Amino acid sequence: MTESAVDRVIRARSWLEALGTLLQRMVGGVYGGLRGPGRFLKDVAHGTRPLGHPLHPALTDVPLGAWFVAVVADIVALLDHAVPTQAGDLALTVGLVTGLAALITGLTDHHETYGHELAVATAHGLLMVLVMALMFVSLLLRWFAGLDLHGLAVALAVAGLLLALGAAYLGGHLSFGLGTMVNRNAFTEGPEEYVPVGAPGDFAEGQLRAVSAGGVPVLVVRRNGRLQAISDTCSHAGGPLHEGELRGDEVICPWHGSRFCVRDGSVRGGPATFAQPVFEVRERAGTVEVRRARTLA
Ligand code: FES
Repeated sequence: MTESAVDRVIRARSWLEALGTLLQRMVGGVYGGLRGPGRFLKDVAHGTRPLGHPLHPALTDVPLGAWFVAVVADIVALLDHAVPTQAGDLALTVGLVTGLAALITGLTDHHETYGHELAVATAHGLLMVLVMALMFVSLLLRWFAGLDLHGLAVALAVAGLLLALGAAYLGGHLSFGLGTMVNRNAFTEGPEEYVPVGAPGDFAEGQLRAVSAGGVPVLVVRRNGRLQAISDTCSHAGGPLHEGELRGDEVICPWHGSRFCVRDGSVRGGPATFAQPVFEVRERAGTVEVRRARTLA
């Protein structure tokens, strides 16, 4: 596959990955230091709960929209005074406050990226920090220099908005180009009819076992003598769940520690935000068989 110019430029800057790793240690340290509450806050920031959907992309629309309104209001105020200059100031402030929330959720998602994805996420984050700094200076000028430097304040807001569009492009590239935080099971279907995946003796009590059901990787677990099956591909970033750990009715992903219920595929802990598809599994005539569940969890 031919790499895009943006990817080439970012890949050539190896310091981005190094800086990203440093940031990840800091973010991990903050959440880890908070222990139980830290895990809860991290799940909230990822969107694992209560939203059940990635939070960061939903939040970023608010500051971008507010800054766009601010720039339009500023220009209208400058040209014919049809709106008061305070309109732009207010929209800029709304953008900064909500931008802070977007920054926190973005840093949280950034914490579980690696390699080139980490470098792109770091570039995206750095640009957004620069945007926030420009908007903040613009706001300070409005508060403390009044109308004397209003033109400069507006120019900074315009520069910030243009830079934000570039940063937003990188954010979109992360999701749509590199698959960050997308549901890795979005296209998982599996066989409509039961297919054999092994003999009952292949599935020991409490053991995580990966099988292929019509080409779909499925995790089969025997608990209390009963077989249960969910997709083996972690919805967060594709980690192989059978290489993880089984604790009670939860399987813990080996890559970033997402926790899923093996009975119904529900997410018990992030960074994953999407449930695992569930499969029906039965033992018949000395064979274990699997098919896609009639209703997905
Ligand atoms: S791949 Fe990230 S938690 Fe499973």
